[in-house]
This record gives sequence, structure tokens and C-alpha cells, in this order.
Amino acid sequence: MMSRPRFVLALFLAVCGSLYPQTSVPSPASSHQPWWRNAVTYEVYPRSFADSNNDGIGDLNGIASKLDYLEALGVDAIWITPCFPSPQKDFGYDVSDYTSIDPMYGTLADFDNLVQQARRRHIRVLMDFVLNHTSDQNPWFLDSRSSRTSARRNWYIWRNGKGPGQPPNNWISDFGGSAWTWDAKTRQYYYHYFEAAQPDLNWRNPAVEKAMFDVARFWYNRGVAGFRLDAVDTLFEDRKLHNNPYVNGEMVNKYNDNLPQNHVVLRRLRSLSDGYGAVLLGETWTDNIGQLKQYYGGHDDEIQLPMDFMFATVNTLSAPKFRHQIDSIESSGEWPVFVITNHDMERSYNRYGDGVHNDQIAKLMAALYLTLRGTAVMYYGEEIGMRNNDPTRLQDVLDPLGRMDWPKNKGRDGERTPMQWSAAPNAGFTAGKPWLPIPASYSTYNVATELRDPGSILNFYKALLRLRQENPAFAGGNYLDCDPSDPNILCFLRSYGDRSALVALNLSNRPQPLSLDLSRYEWGAGKVSVLLTTMPQPPTDLRHAVLDPFAVVILQCQGSPSASPPASASSAPPPLQEHAHFASTAAEARLPPS
Ligand code: NOJ
Ligand code: CA
Repeated sequence: MMSRPRFVLALFLAVCGSLYPQTSVPSPASSHQPWWRNAVTYEVYPRSFADSNNDGIGDLNGIASKLDYLEALGVDAIWITPCFPSPQKDFGYDVSDYTSIDPMYGTLADFDNLVQQARRRHIRVLMDFVLNHTSDQNPWFLDSRSSRTSARRNWYIWRNGKGPGQPPNNWISDFGGSAWTWDAKTRQYYYHYFEAAQPDLNWRNPAVEKAMFDVARFWYNRGVAGFRLDAVDTLFEDRKLHNNPYVNGEMVNKYNDNLPQNHVVLRRLRSLSDGYGAVLLGETWTDNIGQLKQYYGGHDDEIQLPMDFMFATVNTLSAPKFRHQIDSIESSGEWPVFVITNHDMERSYNRYGDGVHNDQIAKLMAALYLTLRGTAVMYYGEEIGMRNNDPTRLQDVLDPLGRMDWPKNKGRDGERTPMQWSAAPNAGFTAGKPWLPIPASYSTYNVATELRDPGSILNFYKALLRLRQENPAFAGGNYLDCDPSDPNILCFLRSYGDRSALVALNLSNRPQPLSLDLSRYEWGAGKVSVLLTTMPQPPTDLRHAVLDPFAVVILQCQGSPSASPPASASSAPPPLQEHAHFASTAAEARLPPS
């Protein structure tokens, strides 16, 4: 018979007078397992992170100047969105030279310095690889469009129209209008999934693959730890250019999205990357778990970290909806990659905030994606509760997507505003004129102010990241849903060996009862303590607890929980032993040196 839990609450909260305990940060992962498992990768939008030369635009030296901040925050890697030479029609996602740095961001020497300085702080650097298309100012495209017989004509997708003024087919660009643009000089159309200034490369041409793979080698040889892969679903198009069908009045990109050939290229890129011990992080928009699973490759031979945008776009504080996404990826047998926002999505503060409890909800969301089993990708500024600052007039819009669809779609400027470092003018981002306006809320939502406030969103993030690093249950533990039927509370156990952690999150705006018999998990043997909470008075007995609206309660128990889920957990993920091998290596990797 299982023993009744001795539920002793040793409150660790009072340490240093802070809500969130401060402890030392262990060194990053050892060689036992890939560093990126459990890592937190921090997305830096270079235009907006830190401006070192006061031209109003962030740059590489600016990023380097903030590495101490990133180290103290506790991130393992940074992914820098494109900083290559570019006409900036799509803010860097239109690359005119893949093996250089745009002068507005600095030089290759600045980049090398950044990688070196980051390495000293155990932070890896990932770049953004724009595989699908180049800028129309890239010399490859300039050559391609110079004549029908140019050496690189077949590096892009050129076709005759169907007739005068008629493009080859009905495909529509993601940025609006036909996906084909007429070139008057050579009297053919070229194809672009995105903006007309972003012509698609022809991945059926082996010379294109060779050129792009040489780009990957160039950066790997400079110490880059991996790539975030842009738009991986759009590399190939139907050879015969069939028209896309319409379903319910909307075009379905059947013939220019998600073609099987994409996976062939991804496997080859993975093989190349493996030679450098590099990781691939995928921009993988998918409709269902089956599609997402394909990006891992049948034999772990494609993208190690395809981002789960189905989780990122739940867009409502619904325990059942988040649970569904977590269960899907957990039961897929793949390694989860959780993300809640990025430079293409409205900030999570706006999407999940209810206008009353926004700061509380920001902490709740943080606790959700940072305590689950998996790798987490975090967008700059989320840790201080940055919010969207959308333009209010068309003439202020810089993002081409916003100009195209105004005012229905205000574009992406609002989520790309400068990082808020302090309450100084321009949030301490620049002494010049920032390239995008900074919201007035920066005077309280900024790094310097929040560092001084023990209850701030920033200190909550720091405490969470420290938990991930220090507690083997987070680093390598399995995931078990404690009550799959609870409509309001997400409550899950993470466990590894004799270490375990219990996370309880109230996703509703009302106090919610939680009734948890921990003896079911054989927590009886160990001592239970609060690791982190947003509740001033955390519950002392989880058999009869009430969680505050949007509360976070994270407990730890020294003592191994049992493998058996509660009887009601019929749809619970696999039992605890299932990933035992991973668990042991992960825990070893994360344990502080003895
Ligand atoms: C995805 C990027 O994240 C987005 O910002 C860009 O506009 C498109 N790909 C086109 O490169
Ligand atoms: Ca600058």
C-alpha cells in the first residue's frame, strides 16, 4: 500500500527578501548529450536589440554589449535574425550576400568577436538561413535576370506567361498579388512565394544546393552553432505548375507548399550540419502533428528542432487547448520545441493578456513554455513584458505586410520595437532616433527597473531559467499530466530519478480548486518544497488547494514519484520510464559539477 504523503511546505521564498530565489548558475551542458536539448534559445532581432553607434538601428556590437545580461538571464544560445547585406525590403529576409554582414550591423570581424565573447559566457550563436529566396539585388539574381542564357538563369524559376499579361498560373504571393512578376527585359515571369523583391531559388538545380551548402559551411567554420531555417516548407514547387485549388473561397497552396522534395534537401543539410555538430531549428508551420513529425525525419535525420507553432498559436488561455497540443507532441515520440511568439507574431502580452492581469498572465505563459519537457525558444523582450506598439497611421508602417493589408493587418512593426533597457530616453536603446517608436510603457517595463523589483516579470523569468538549469527534473524529467480532465488548471509532474517537480498553472481568471492526491505518485517519501510561485500564500495541502487566478505554483519533491498515472488519466502521455535513457543523460548533463 502506498504511504500517505507527508506534505511539508518548506518555503524557500524568503531568500534575499526576493519572491524568486537567487542561486548560482551551473555551467552549460556536458558532452553527454547535445547541448540544445533543454536549451533556451533567445531570438534577437538585431535592428532592435541594442544600438552601439547611435544611428537608431541595433547592431552586432550592441548585441555583444548585452551578453552579460543574457548570461545572467540564463539563456544557452541566441538566434540572430538575418544580419547579412540586404536592401531590407523584408528587413533582412531579402539577402543580397550570404557570406557577409550588412554594414549597418557591423563587419565580419564584429561577428567573429560576438561569437567569441558569447562563447566565453557559454552562449552559442545561431544564424538565420534564408533558403527559399534571395533578394532581387543578390548578384545571383542580377545575373539570372540579365538574359535568358545567363549562367545563373536556371538558379531561379522563370516561365513564360499563359498569354499577354497572364502569369503562368494562379499562385498568390504570401505578400499579396500574383506570385509571378514580369521581367520586361527577358520577357518571362519569375516566381516569388513572398515579396516580388524576394525571388525563389530553384532548388531543383544542383548548383543552387551547392552554393547554399557552401554558405552553411562558411558560417559553421566561423563558429556558428546552427541555423534557424527560414520558410522550409516552400523550397519546392510543382514541376508542372498546376493551379492551386480553392477551398471555401481560400486558395490552398497545394502545389507550392510542403512538397516531399523539401525533405530530401533537409536530410542533406542535416548530414552536412552533423559534420559540424550543428543544430537546425526550423520555422515549421504545420496544421497537424503528423506534418510536424515529418520535419524531424523518419530516422532523426532532418531538423532536430522544428518549432511547434500549433502550440504557439493556441491564442487563448485554455487549459484543454494547451493540453491537447502538449499531449500531441508528447505522444508523437519526438522532442518538443516550445515557442510562444516571434518577430512575425503579435507579442504574447497582447495575445494572452486580458487587460487586467496582464503581468500575471505574462508569468503564467512563461511558466508554461519553460517548464515543459523540451527545448524553448524565447523572443527578446518577452522577459520584461514587452507589448506590441502597432502603428496607427498607414504612413508610419514600415513592414511590407502591413502596407499591403492596411488597416486589416497592421503588419509586424509592433512586435519588433526596440528592446527596453532602462527608463532613460529611448529606453536606453539608442542615443539617436530609434528606427521604430517605443511605447510609453517602457518607463516601467524595462530591464533596469525590473531588475530592482523582486516581483517583476524579468525576475520571474530569471528564476524559471535557473530552475531549468539546476533541477534535473526539468532538465531531463518525463512529463505526466496529473489531471487530464481539469478545464482550468494545467498540472503536470516532471520527474527524473529521485527528483521531481510539480507544476500547477491556473489558466482562468477565477480561483480554482485543485485536489491532488500526491500519494498516487509516491511523493510520500520525500520532502516537498515550493520552488517558485506567484501566490503570496501558496497552498499548504494540495489535496484541498485553491489556486489564485492565473497562479503559478511550482513544487519540488525529493523522492521518486511512481510510474502509474491516476486512474482518470486515460489519455495521459507515456509512463515515466518511457524516456529513461534520455532522462539519465540529460540529468547528468545539467548537474552542477561536484
Ligand atoms: C519568415 C520570416 O520569419 C519572416 O519574417 C519573413 O517575412 C518570411 N519568412 C520571408 O522570408
Ligand atoms: Ca547602430
